[in-house]
Amino acid sequence: MSSENPALTLVVNHDKAELLAHVLGERFPQVRIIVAPDSERLDRYIGEAEVLLAYHFPVELYGRARKLRWFQSLSAGIDSMLSIRDRVGDIIVTNVRGMQGGLIADYVMGGVTMLNWNIRQLLKEQAERKWIHRSVAPLADKTLGIVGLGSIGTSIARRAKSAGMIVFAAKRDISVPAESVDRLFGSDQLKELLPLCDFVVLALPATPETVGLIGADEIACMRRDAFLINIARGSVVVESELIRALQACSLAGAMLDVFEREPPPQDSPLWNMPNVIMTPHISGILTHYVERAFDIVTENVDRYLKGLPLRNVIDLRRGY
Ligand code: GLV
Repeated sequence: MSSENPALTLVVNHDKAELLAHVLGERFPQVRIIVAPDSERLDRYIGEAEVLLAYHFPVELYGRARKLRWFQSLSAGIDSMLSIRDRVGDIIVTNVRGMQGGLIADYVMGGVTMLNWNIRQLLKEQAERKWIHRSVAPLADKTLGIVGLGSIGTSIARRAKSAGMIVFAAKRDISVPAESVDRLFGSDQLKELLPLCDFVVLALPATPETVGLIGADEIACMRRDAFLINIARGSVVVESELIRALQACSLAGAMLDVFEREPPPQDSPLWNMPNVIMTPHISGILTHYVERAFDIVTENVDRYLKGLPLRNVIDLRRGY
């Protein structure tokens, strides 16, 4: 705690809460900062927080967060708090939008390249000491469709375009042309977009409106030689339908960073499917994550203290 008559009380809940508290304490001596890295301390101090800084909102404690005015999320997705979105009233919610786009675009382009080259098969052949030639179409011949063109989707579009790909995207508001996108589709035109794509990348937030968005009908719209890459949330895809399509080879393959359940159950067929690359929800986990969030967090605390509008405000009714 850093002040006798604090301008506000800010609770930090994160593994690196001490570090965040130290940086914020030096910059804002007038703020009372409470370090609550674990659930026990969060439970003890949540009632005092005017501002909460955490990776996920502790929904189970919401009823006791009586003084809370602002929640700064350290993640991009705030889907974990959508279950209480009708109850949060005028609490401001902000996220770290803009921080992870570059890394996630690296992940997606790595995935596109690995799937295009069928890297799993090449590694298998290497292990079997086999030398088999084949031809591979360049990415410049390929079309990539991005579902959800926010800050992350835009980073992916930019990177795919610089690889020479044809880039399509679906988003809610298509009234403004988008950078690096050859053609925009409205969110109600998904079934027109899907059959045109060699790669479909899901980059949209999980909201009640997007849960199960990619189900049997949408997968059936995709080409048999197409690949799905999901860096959004597992809930956006009906996983059983995806597994069915991958097993039946009515979809060529998938690269999945997110799942309906994380980690997926040990008996999930996804673990050892030859046409699937799985990663443990890491596509946005930058090295020095908290340090990179300092800029957004300190700017927002400064703005909050001055009564200015905050950066990266979430519209909870939309869910992003
Ligand atoms: C990660 O998935 C995030 O939402 O930041």
